[in-house]
Amino acid sequence: MAREPDWIDVGAADELKHRELQPVAARATRVALSFRDGQWGAVSNACNHVGGPLGEGDIDANGYIRCPWHGWKFHCRTGLGEPGFEDDRVPAFPVRTEGGRVLVDIANPTKRHKKPHAPHPLARKPVREPGPLRMAGISTTAMDAGHPRFSGSDHLLEHALAAAREKGAETRLIKLNDLKFRPCEGYFSKSLRACTWPCSITQMHPNDQMDQVYEALVHWADAVIVATPIRWGAPSSLYYKMAERLNCVQVDVATKEEQIICNKVAGFIIVGGQDNIQGVAGQMLSFFGELGFHFPQFPYIAHSRGWSHEDMENNVRIVRDSKALAEGAAALAERCLAIAGRLIVHDQPPAPPVGMRGGMKGRPIGAD
Ligand code: FES
Repeated sequence: MAREPDWIDVGAADELKHRELQPVAARATRVALSFRDGQWGAVSNACNHVGGPLGEGDIDANGYIRCPWHGWKFHCRTGLGEPGFEDDRVPAFPVRTEGGRVLVDIANPTKRHKKPHAPHPLARKPVREPGPLRMAGISTTAMDAGHPRFSGSDHLLEHALAAAREKGAETRLIKLNDLKFRPCEGYFSKSLRACTWPCSITQMHPNDQMDQVYEALVHWADAVIVATPIRWGAPSSLYYKMAERLNCVQVDVATKEEQIICNKVAGFIIVGGQDNIQGVAGQMLSFFGELGFHFPQFPYIAHSRGWSHEDMENNVRIVRDSKALAEGAAALAERCLAIAGRLIVHDQPPAPPVGMRGGMKGRPIGAD
């Protein structure tokens, strides 16, 4: 039964109609107000998923508001979910104009109703499937795919994966240079709930190929070797592009008691014409440690010519011809697999028990 209307003035129609969609306050009620094809619409500003601000999204060609956090859709006037999800609806409010003002009746919204959406395929619980040990190699080298060149770090990564295969492991090589994926767009800065596993970009852009990295690191591999060149004393730009997109994994680790990276091992190959190997290794060890990876003894191999050498053609020859570096890459792969095998056998608990996590990134002290 309809209640006594409670019309709230939310602003001047002439001003509000300049934006197709915007959040407005009707007393304490947050409303996503739309003006489209000459019609006003007012629905709850809170998305059914995890509360994303619908008024900060956009409206698609069919009149559905697309939530800015993970892309769920609700009609801008009826609040109904998109076709197939009509039962997933947010409250819609009566709205009218009077005397040049926009009025929203906050006493008579339709009822919110939530219908579960199928989880993203990556959101499944990581469970190690039976089978041989599995190693993923990740190349972070950028190059012109049409005119490839020799890459020292890729060369050693191939030696490492070949050694892993010789030990009976399955291997998978992912070259970031071959993938089309968007840079991290800072959902973390919108809200912690907007930067959760699986990544918001992955959920909203089905063609984004970072899912191949997520699938390998979170679900498939027991061990991963990341290979990078040194660029001005740092890992490559593609490494950082990947690392930023892995922020959602770190947030998951920091905010939940059950980790999605469990019993996995990481090792690194670092090759550069100039120096700062320890700095590059420190970056990578720190980041993969925060994701929850274990490390073998001597977790990286590296090579550089040092500050006084610009003769990269000689560096290329040295790396390509070096038996010691090739053997070092193979030994790194074997160390990673040896630890991964032991972790699987002993099935380490996925996370420290509640109350023992003070000092970990993103864990407020005094909160436990
Ligand atoms: S909060 Fe709206 S889609 Fe996730």
